[in-house]
Amino acid sequence: MKISNDIFSLRDDLKNKNNVAFVPTMGNLHEGHLALIKQAKQHAEYVVVSIFVNRLQFLPNEDFDQYPRTFDGDCDALNKLGVNHVFAPNEEILYPDQQEFLLTLPSIADTLEGKFRPGFFCGVTTIVLKLFNIIQPQIAIFGKKDFQQLHIVKEMVRQLNIPIKIEGCEIIRASDGLALSSRNGYLTENQRNEACNLYHSLQKIKQEINAGNKSFDTLQEAAINNLSQRGWKIDYLTIQNRNTLRTANIKDKNLIVLAAAWLGKTRLIDNIEI
Ligand code: PAF
Repeated sequence: MKISNDIFSLRDDLKNKNNVAFVPTMGNLHEGHLALIKQAKQHAEYVVVSIFVNRLQFLPNEDFDQYPRTFDGDCDALNKLGVNHVFAPNEEILYPDQQEFLLTLPSIADTLEGKFRPGFFCGVTTIVLKLFNIIQPQIAIFGKKDFQQLHIVKEMVRQLNIPIKIEGCEIIRASDGLALSSRNGYLTENQRNEACNLYHSLQKIKQEINAGNKSFDTLQEAAINNLSQRGWKIDYLTIQNRNTLRTANIKDKNLIVLAAAWLGKTRLIDNIEI
């Protein structure tokens, strides 16, 4: 497995490869990331994984400094999986000057995550577009846990005619249902025991809707009240149209319930497709 820190050596290695799959990450890899990589391997002969904690997508008061950095362990795991190339640049390589060219995003980027983390999707799309331009893969894989991120990246690629196929990878969960996330490591033991209830609330809504309950507002309110009573602080928990990510109406067939909520100082997100 090759490890490149700079763009020139990476491009040099990639110049004769015409079937490259790319998995962008911020490192601290868990089984969720490894699933992305396994999926990437099914599509291409050459798999590139980037590891870069992207300052641009963190608000000033967020966990950029605290974000776990476990480079050596990550490389061991990637090596074992048969990844061909790790791109691990530092900030001077990717942001040698202040990043002044930024995308103007559609209004969907101001909803859900974007409402609570203003600028987040601008930071994400900027780094993703830069990495796409540097690596020029044929396909890139993103996790469905960040469903809105996947949606916005797909739209960016479509509207900007970027010749890369974007594929989503299913959420990987712990045995109690908690979606795997690098931020789970911030949870105390009690919080970790409680954390699976976010998913269980979403599952309950799915069961109700599948049983014919169309009272979306009531279902959302009940889940929010239940979690709040258990000590959660909810940013949003909402039933949306899965294709547009706009608020669902009862005629919509493809639905998704998306949630972001705090347990103490840790913010978790999750979703369930219906
Ligand atoms: O999903 C993530 O880990 C990040 O948002 C990404 C896509 C690697 C961009 O920094």
